[in-house]
Amino acid sequence: MRTINQQHHNITDLSLEPNDFLTDVLQGLSSNPKMLSAKYLYDELGSKLFEKITSLDEYYQTRTEIDILHQSYSTISTLIGEHVDLVELGSGSSKKTHILLDEQRVNSYIPIDISTSMLTNTVDQLKEKYPSLTIHGMVADYTKPFSLPALGGNKKVTFFPGSTIGNFEPSEAAMFLKQLSQTFNKEDGLLIGVDLKKDQHIIEKAYNDEKGITAAFNKNVLTRINRELQCDFKVENFQHHAYYNTSKSRIEMHLISTIDQTVQFQDQTFAFTKNETIHTENSYKYSIDSFQKLCLWCGFKPVEVFMDKNQWFSVHYLEVM
Ligand SMILES: C[S@@+](CC[C@H](N)C(=O)[O-])C[C@H]1O[C@@H](n2cnc3c(N)ncnc32)[C@H](O)[C@@H]1O
Repeated sequence: MRTINQQHHNITDLSLEPNDFLTDVLQGLSSNPKMLSAKYLYDELGSKLFEKITSLDEYYQTRTEIDILHQSYSTISTLIGEHVDLVELGSGSSKKTHILLDEQRVNSYIPIDISTSMLTNTVDQLKEKYPSLTIHGMVADYTKPFSLPALGGNKKVTFFPGSTIGNFEPSEAAMFLKQLSQTFNKEDGLLIGVDLKKDQHIIEKAYNDEKGITAAFNKNVLTRINRELQCDFKVENFQHHAYYNTSKSRIEMHLISTIDQTVQFQDQTFAFTKNETIHTENSYKYSIDSFQKLCLWCGFKPVEVFMDKNQWFSVHYLEVM
């Protein structure tokens, strides 16, 4: 573990070991069908591309969640309370968190993200905007065990926006939430954004934008593998493909091989037939009821749920039972 002292704030660096990435990629490309974990989409460029995605017209999720947080702010701030430690999972640019930090009722803010560049830049910017706030950033994979820094607030509120929970298989989401609930004290809260089931064309457009930013985001994982693991993917021979799998209520993002080809990786060769895919991300969509049932099973009781008028997105406040 490394602690980087940046002026008056700390960043704990628990970033992935290069070997973890290698092992996961080798395992993913050896599996049938081939797959890669979505967490590897977020290197420096991937994080910047994701930020661009969040302001695309087609990507309703970010602006809708921000609208919900603004519109329901007075109830949400009452639920959160004062002098709390705000822990954010997959904080990215922390754009949504400004809504919660602006009133300065937070004792400390602990953003956690797997992307070192995004986390450190964001902490720098937050420190400028909120000079008196204690910020302790953590570069970490939240699916692996890690310890939070010492907290001194009245309670802990975990913020998990962006429907990032939808990237987990439902069984993994259940395990993740169950483990999270076991770290909670009675008064702690979970504020979590969850994308909802809706007309599948609206969902599919969000992952197939006209400018091709999502395609670049998806393909960038191959460039990352080439750079960090000395592989020779010909990125131009893969195409972005995202579609809604109705029976599983999820967007699936894939990279399709446009030709028969082989890819050399360390001492191994991976063969791709034309139209074979690498499955790079799932984004599960829930109903209010299915998400609340999942949470109840994991030890969380629903306290409030907030939605936009179209009922496209939801923000849940939960406490442990
Ligand atoms: C869908 S984006 C959401 C970003 C931001 N919270 C928002 O709502 O716009 C997912 C974020 O989670 C981070 N992330 C993905 N997998 C992660 C993991 N296993 N551990 C920590 N952070 C992760 C990514 O780097 C990215 O910033």
